[in-house]
Amino acid sequence: MERISGFSKLSKEEKILWLSGQFKGDSKKEFLSINNFWHEDQEIQKLFDEFSENTITNFIFPYGICPNMLINDKIYNIPLVIEESSVVAACSKSAKFWMEHGGFKTKILSTTKKGQVHFLWSGESSKLFHFFSLVKSKLLINADAITQNMEKRGGGIKDVVLVDKTHTLENYYQLDVSFETCDAMGANFINTVLEKFGEDLKILARDYDSFNHSEKDIDVIMCILSNYTPECTVTAYVECHIDELDHISSSFSGREFASRFEKAVNISKIDVNRAVTHNKGIFNGIDALVIATGNDFRAIEACGHAYAARDGQYRGLSSCTIKDDIFRFELTIPLAVGTVGGLTKLHPMAKVSLKLLNNPNAKDLMGLIACIGLAQNFGALRSLVTTGIQKGHMKMHLLNILNQLGASKDQITTAKNYFKHHTVSFQAVRDFLEQTQNFH
Ligand code: MEV
Repeated sequence: MERISGFSKLSKEEKILWLSGQFKGDSKKEFLSINNFWHEDQEIQKLFDEFSENTITNFIFPYGICPNMLINDKIYNIPLVIEESSVVAACSKSAKFWMEHGGFKTKILSTTKKGQVHFLWSGESSKLFHFFSLVKSKLLINADAITQNMEKRGGGIKDVVLVDKTHTLENYYQLDVSFETCDAMGANFINTVLEKFGEDLKILARDYDSFNHSEKDIDVIMCILSNYTPECTVTAYVECHIDELDHISSSFSGREFASRFEKAVNISKIDVNRAVTHNKGIFNGIDALVIATGNDFRAIEACGHAYAARDGQYRGLSSCTIKDDIFRFELTIPLAVGTVGGLTKLHPMAKVSLKLLNNPNAKDLMGLIACIGLAQNFGALRSLVTTGIQKGHMKMHLLNILNQLGASKDQITTAKNYFKHHTVSFQAVRDFLEQTQNFH
């Protein structure tokens, strides 16, 4: 590949032309297949082009539905954007089971979000704390113009605290600011407030008579929201009598199943190898709904994993208890999401997703997301502690393998029948296709 300068200044067509010039023959043809993925509606395409930079086409993902999720006594059809086979099927199977056993329930624990002004200051720390106590109200008043609208919606700045971090890094302090951002994820609002605080803090220190020359210099390193939101959490849970689990597996009674399930959850609490995979399964569901609603799945993932390691060891996020023969499975997780602002109202499919979910507010959406994470985790563990994961997984994967091997419609139908009773593997499918080809 050649080096290029000014790529971003080229038009979309010029970018594609230049990139295609980097290939020859069949590779060029293959590359130019990107043209098949543009949206035919110019306005929609323009919208997508402008979400990001240097866009040359669209990358399509499947948009599936997990029907019959009974959550807080209401039925939802949950939209899931995910490329991995089995995830939607596993969630749907869990939804179906819990529909008959009381459904999913949610509880919002808190909705506070945070951000920090990270700065350096040298001097006697008590002097800085005294200065802060004098200027705190001024900082808040100066941010009025930014916070007014959010306050009208019932949110705004909840508190500002000065934190001495000098034991971790020389001269390091923070303004630790808490926010309520209502139905918005609030990143832009939070960052705007923090940058204003950073600016004003410097000015106020410069004008503060009791500081000597060097103390007047506050070195603001950065002002940024924290995606770690342990105070913006929700719990989702399901529970039933263990006898209700009797028919979940042909090999185990309800009591045996519950006990195996509980052990599997507890293993994720003590073994990091298992914990990561366990949580990956939870995020299979969570990310798929977060993406479908135009929310930021990187923020949700980063936060969820930090939360999973909050006591110093990375652990599974869900918990299971069996008490007085009641099986309870729950997930408490931080989920800072929005239903207004950002992509949620811009991406046409995010709008559809929110409509499908009955236009939830941010708290409702937190609950729905936690439930789909729990549903996915229940589905995975249910298979793991009974039949094993590969049986269902490879069945779902069969179609991908068939497509990859270029199977015809007829071959797909016969293969699907054949592999109802045979183990799926790439080699087995290839052999099957070769044999049936020769046979025909
Ligand atoms: C696969 O994407 C997810 C699982 O590995 C999750 C789990 O093991 O719990 C099935």
